[in-house]
Amino acid sequence: MTTTITVAPSNLIANLNWRYATKAFDSSKTISLEVWNALEETLILTPSSCGLQPWKFIVVTGPETKARLRPHSWNQSQVTDCSHYVVFASLLKITESDVDKFLARTVEVRGCTLESLQSFRGMVVGEVIHGPRSKVAAEWAVRQAYIALGNFMTAAALLQVDTCPMEGFVPAEYDKILGLPEKGLTATVCCAAGYRSETDKYARLPKVRFTASDVVEHITV
Ligand SMILES: Cc1cc2nc3c(=O)[nH]c(=O)nc-3n(C[C@H](O)[C@H](O)[C@H](O)COP(=O)(O)O)c2cc1C
Repeated sequence: MTTTITVAPSNLIANLNWRYATKAFDSSKTISLEVWNALEETLILTPSSCGLQPWKFIVVTGPETKARLRPHSWNQSQVTDCSHYVVFASLLKITESDVDKFLARTVEVRGCTLESLQSFRGMVVGEVIHGPRSKVAAEWAVRQAYIALGNFMTAAALLQVDTCPMEGFVPAEYDKILGLPEKGLTATVCCAAGYRSETDKYARLPKVRFTASDVVEHITV
């Protein structure tokens, strides 16, 4: 498959400067189905360690559920005023059946045999289920979910969709409302998506970032 570069480097940076953590959404604006479908695809296309995809993306568009979540979100208006509210949930535990689910999907998509994946299975199970990583498996899953968050926000900016990443919520309350523990999941981080309100003064504030020399180091030898 060949692809064409459709975003010029300067455009990419302009879009990333355009994006900001939106504090006030225009609740009258909804993301179109076409745009949303593309954004949902960016969630699905997110890479994860070993490919295991230890997550579920809960997309909340229903006003009733949004209203129930808001008091457990520091009462932030983004929850109810955005178009699509995404709760990034991650697996509480990684088991052999999670690895096998991924292997079965690999067989389905790539048409290979399960036998051909056995040494990979041994490596993943040894590392993630029985090895040192097993001690931090839930935390490891959380990290993967944050990759999806970054991917989603960048893609949204390219489509001129506003977002607000959100950690200001009570995971235990979200878990109860969304019935996540029953599915082996917990709420990790959220992202409100939609369109900024004209009145959001944060949109006009200059970005506060450390300088390149402060945060980037080049090693050329
Ligand atoms: C993981 C994460 C959680 C955040 N949680 C919140 C939040 O709950 N509410 C909020 O208004 N902003 C939240 N922010 C936004 C940050 O404060 C903001 O991204 C940062 O100050 C940089 O500003 P900018 O995104 O506008 O460039 C969060 C950002 C990240 C990355």
